[in-house]
Amino acid sequence: MLRLTDLRGILRYVPQYRERVFVIAMDGVIVETENFRNLLLDVALLRSLRIGVALVHGAGMQIQRLAQQIGVVPSNVDGTGITDAATLQLALTAANRVGHEILEGLSANDLRGACGNALVAHPAGILQGIDHQLTGRVERVDAALLRALLDNDIIPVVPPLGCDGEGNTYRLNSDAVAVEVARALGAVKLIYLTDSAGVLLKQTEGEGETTLLRHLRVEDAEELLKKRRLELEEHSVSKLANAIRAARDGVPRVHIIDGRVDEGLLAEVFSNEGIGTLVHTNEYQAIRRAHKKDARAIFRLIKAGVENDELLPRTQTEIERQVGDFFVFEVDGNLAACVALHHHGKEKTAEMACVCVAGQYENQGIGGRLMSYVEDQARAGGAQTLFCLSTQAFNYFIQKGGFRPGSAADLPAPRRQAYEASGRRSQVLIKKIDG
Ligand SMILES: CC(C)(COP(=O)(O)OP(=O)(O)OC[C@H]1O[C@@H](n2cnc3c(N)ncnc32)[C@H](O)[C@@H]1OP(=O)(O)O)[C@@H](O)C(=O)NCCC(=O)NCCS
Repeated sequence: MLRLTDLRGILRYVPQYRERVFVIAMDGVIVETENFRNLLLDVALLRSLRIGVALVHGAGMQIQRLAQQIGVVPSNVDGTGITDAATLQLALTAANRVGHEILEGLSANDLRGACGNALVAHPAGILQGIDHQLTGRVERVDAALLRALLDNDIIPVVPPLGCDGEGNTYRLNSDAVAVEVARALGAVKLIYLTDSAGVLLKQTEGEGETTLLRHLRVEDAEELLKKRRLELEEHSVSKLANAIRAARDGVPRVHIIDGRVDEGLLAEVFSNEGIGTLVHTNEYQAIRRAHKKDARAIFRLIKAGVENDELLPRTQTEIERQVGDFFVFEVDGNLAACVALHHHGKEKTAEMACVCVAGQYENQGIGGRLMSYVEDQARAGGAQTLFCLSTQAFNYFIQKGGFRPGSAADLPAPRRQAYEASGRRSQVLIKKIDG
């Protein structure tokens, strides 16, 4: 969890977000939690760093409560089913109340906010033979209106309701509204604040046990939704489907986090681990050649592996000297993994060395991606075989990397001497890469 005092950590992220827009979408239930006040303080902090914020809110929980109070059965509460006339009246009352509470909260933090008619909506229509009546879909977002507010230091507060050109109002789903607003504003982040930890997968064993999915590439998220929908917790489905739409529409990072956790929003935005689920497009992660200035970070990354005798000890100066052979895997600008590739041109072979993935990024396929990247690089450099030495991860290289066990005799002569002199007795692994 991020310490508020960790200003240096926060400031590292600020240049990439300054003058950019975050869309924060709150489920109605979050407005009534104890953490709501803290969330508005966090919004004030984002604004003080010159990050634009637009707030989208839901009202499902309030609609349900209002319906109970006046003894009406709503036709649907989240704007995805049928909205009959009585339910639309409930939605108008409930959403206006939620919007007003947000405006009150903003005022209490010296922030200016405004609700506007920024959503042009049309009826969702007849879907699979069912007339959805007053449920709408977003036809257009009046981005000029939202931009004008943002430019004047006013936080737009967007309700789950929209009007058409004739002045009719339609009930909208707030998750879907958030996608449209994020797209229209070219937001760099869409953050869903909900009342669960993130996207949760039900475990096959263990009654009611779930696993929180931390980072999902948009392709993997789509695969998950297509093939394992039934294993997802009910509320995760709508959030995930909309997160995928947003990512596909150009929002690079979509976060689904627990809005009830104090400092959760800041930890998610300003730390590498976050607290919930991140759905991201590929630009978020990248493999690149290491620079001299990465030597210190590489040294720190491999420290634990060296201490466990998984990796050969290297000093920072040695890494600096060999930095041209290193590649690093970055996540959101932070170093998450490294690998080195040493060419032995004369023997048409290359060594993959120092494969290391930081603890919190293990088991996300990063090691696998580094291996295939290095293999391509080695092949492009004219190598016909790739070898690596491992004391504890040899099964990984065999099972996941397609290597086979070899012996010291497979190593090029100078490397063999160093290998024998080291006394580490690592397993030699070989892979033919010339097709
Ligand atoms: C080994 C290492 C590179 C794997 O990286 P990673 O990004 O977590 O791996 P991936 O996500 O690509 O693959 C994960 C899979 O490999 C398996 N795996 C991880 N480490 C393993 C090991 N030591 N032996 C066998 N399998 C292993 C995982 O169980 C997982 O299996 P699954 O896909 O069937 O669930 C990483 O754990 C690491 O940095 N280890 C310490 C340093 C080290 O030993 N480096 C090798 C010396 S050069």
